[in-house]
Amino acid sequence: MNDILIVNNLYKTYHNLEGETIAIDNLSFKVKDGEFIAIVGPSGCGKSTLLSILCNLEDKTSGEVIFPIKDKQKLGYMLQQDCLFPWLTILDNCLLGLKVQNKITKEAKNRVIKLLDTYGLKDFKNKYPSSLSGGMKQRVL
Ligand SMILES: Nc1ncnc2c1ncn2[C@@H]1O[C@H](COP(=O)(O)OP(=O)(O)O)[C@@H](O)[C@H]1O
Ligand SMILES: [Mg+2]
Repeated sequence: MNDILIVNNLYKTYHNLEGETIAIDNLSFKVKDGEFIAIVGPSGCGKSTLLSILCNLEDKTSGEVIFPIKDKQKLGYMLQQDCLFPWLTILDNCLLGLKVQNKITKEAKNRVIKLLDTYGLKDFKNKYPSSLSGGMKQRVL
C-alpha cells in the first residue's frame, strides 16, 4: 500500500508571555492508504496541534509533513469547539465561507440547504446556534 502521509521529526513550540511550550517533540510516523489511525494521549499532549499542522492551520516549528498523493488543501477535521457565529442563523453560518469569497449563487445556496437536510438540520436553518445541541453544532460544521 502507498503512504498517504509521512511525518518526519516534527517539532512544534508555542511562544507566549509565560515562555515556551513544546507541543510536539520529534514525532515521526507514516499512514498508508486505507489505514485507520487513532491518535491517543492525555489532554495537552499535542493531538489538536498535530491535526492543525496537518491541515495547514498552524505552522510547524521544524520537521517534515509530506502528503505523497493527496492535496493538503483538501484536508479538514472536526474541531473540538464549534466555531459558529452566535449572531448568525445556521443557514447564514453555513453560507459564510461562500459569502466572504463572493460566491453565493442560488445554486450554491440550494446545495447548502440540501446538505442541511441530509444532516437532519433542515428545520433548524433559521435558528441560531444557541438552540442546537453540541452534536448538532458539529454537524453544522
Ligand atoms: N495557541 C497556543 N498557544 C500556546 N500554547 C498552546 C497553544 N495551543 C496549544 N498549546 C499548548 O500546546 C500543548 C498541546 O496542546 P494541544 O495540541 O491542544 O493538546 P491536546 O489536543 O492533545 O489536548 C499544550 O501544552 C497546550 O497548552
Ligand atoms: Mg485537543
